[in-house]
Amino acid sequence: MKTSPVLVLLILLSATATLPSEALNVRGHLLKSKTFLLPPIFLRPGSVSNKWYYDVAFPRGHLALKSFNAEVVDEHGVPVPLHETYLHHWVVEPYYTVKDTAAATEAHNHSKIIHRNSGVCKTTLGQYYGLGSETRHTATWVPDPYGIEIGNPEAPPEGYEEKWLLNVHAIDTRGVTDKLGCTECKCDLYNVTVDEYGRRIPKDYTGGLFCCYDETQCKLKGGFTGGEARKVFLRYTVMWLDWSDAVLPVKIYIFDATDRALLEGKSEPACKVEYQVEECSSENRTKNSCVHVQATKQVLPRGGDIVFGVAHQHSGGIGASLHGEDGRLLCESMATYGNSQEAGNEAGYIVGMSTCYPKPGTVRVRDGEVLTVVSNYSSERQHTGVMGLLYILVAEHEQQQLPAAAGKPGLCFSFPVSWCLPSWLSSNM
Ligand SMILES: *[C@@H]1O[C@H](CO)[C@@H](O)[C@H](O)[C@H]1NC(C)=O
Ligand SMILES: *[C@@H]1O[C@H](CO)[C@@H](O)[C@H](O)[C@H]1NC(C)=O
Ligand SMILES: *[C@@H]1O[C@H](CO)[C@@H](O)[C@H](O)[C@H]1NC(C)=O
Ligand SMILES: *[C@@H]1O[C@H](CO)[C@@H](O)[C@H](O)[C@H]1NC(C)=O
Repeated sequence: MKTSPVLVLLILLSATATLPSEALNVRGHLLKSKTFLLPPIFLRPGSVSNKWYYDVAFPRGHLALKSFNAEVVDEHGVPVPLHETYLHHWVVEPYYTVKDTAAATEAHNHSKIIHRNSGVCKTTLGQYYGLGSETRHTATWVPDPYGIEIGNPEAPPEGYEEKWLLNVHAIDTRGVTDKLGCTECKCDLYNVTVDEYGRRIPKDYTGGLFCCYDETQCKLKGGFTGGEARKVFLRYTVMWLDWSDAVLPVKIYIFDATDRALLEGKSEPACKVEYQVEECSSENRTKNSCVHVQATKQVLPRGGDIVFGVAHQHSGGIGASLHGEDGRLLCESMATYGNSQEAGNEAGYIVGMSTCYPKPGTVRVRDGEVLTVVSNYSSERQHTGVMGLLYILVAEHEQQQLPAAAGKPGLCFSFPVSWCLPSWLSSNM
């Protein structure tokens, strides 16, 4: 029986939540899946945990990463709802470390080289995957025949090996005075005056990551006594294939609606990651337009086909989009909110972001194309520490991969199919 790729994808997407740790056969390749638990996170009502876990359990070998799904569960493996433990974010990222030195790894002073994604923010947002409250209903599947190449033994510098780190930022909001305020890291609720490095927090900074770092405490309701200290876990499921010629590599790019460098004529990107949404004016309110639009321009260094896209936003987010230089829509990702108390459908929280799976070859971007990033939030009320990120996977065209070493691209044609003369030939013409 021949199953269409779309059907396989649909089956996979609907099955990922309950998939056993067994291999599935996709198009003749063995799709493997494994579920892991991070060490316990200890939380008291109102407390915050923002920790980095190094050398976490991860599939080993030269592989094509196909998906990464995660959620917070309790000691019995039962999903914990966002209104108890708010998952601000998790990010997963490879790094290189000196081989086989247990003592050195323990000391944690070891030289680690973070292996960042392909851009475009230079010092932040280097992750391979990363989501937040939307994690339970956001697809991370890399469509066939593509994969994120990991574990290539040739990739690390001599004497180094690849390992994986996870950062998890969780906020316990049981018994707090203002759940949304705690999840938006409003500084007055955390009673902090310095950030985690001891630097004074500026007066005009009212909320964001500087105020809800590891071990901070959000304000509890007077007299709140319920809610024990508890242990929760990040449970994550990785799906992969063995690397082979049948898999086409994709590059990961994360765009940030706060980077105004290009608009301001600066050469280095300035991704602030977070921003603030002011409550809309009464004038706008009467016009019924309480939407805050954060838009900017960023450059995609290397073009190709966009094969996947998704946005990351916080509560209040409506959706985000990415556009080409001519304004064409490359991907639009919209937020969905829950409407009950259960885990995965929590009212008032973003429980999923829609994703883009363009038909390969239909959404193309040029090398160095200037893209527009748009992130919309409701401004019915003020929001602090919000994000507007767009994550895309780009498959470069083969003729673009070849000349990298040669320096000069070959002469290319688009008829009858895309093809290029080798650069040694075209440079002599
Ligand atoms: C790690 O720390 C130990 C002891 O403090 C030191 O001897 C060693 O040189 C350090 N290693 C690196 C790579 O800095
Ligand atoms: C806020 O912090 C100050 C100094 O760190 C402390 O004295 C005060 O008791 C704290 N207030 C509350 C409500 O926790
Ligand atoms: C009001 O709406 C306009 C246009 O939509 C927008 O440019 C402006 O920033 C809004 N002002 C406020 C305070 O929301
Ligand atoms: C963002 O808001 C603008 C103005 O209201 C609208 O034109 C656009 O379609 C919105 N985009 C998304 C992704 O919500």
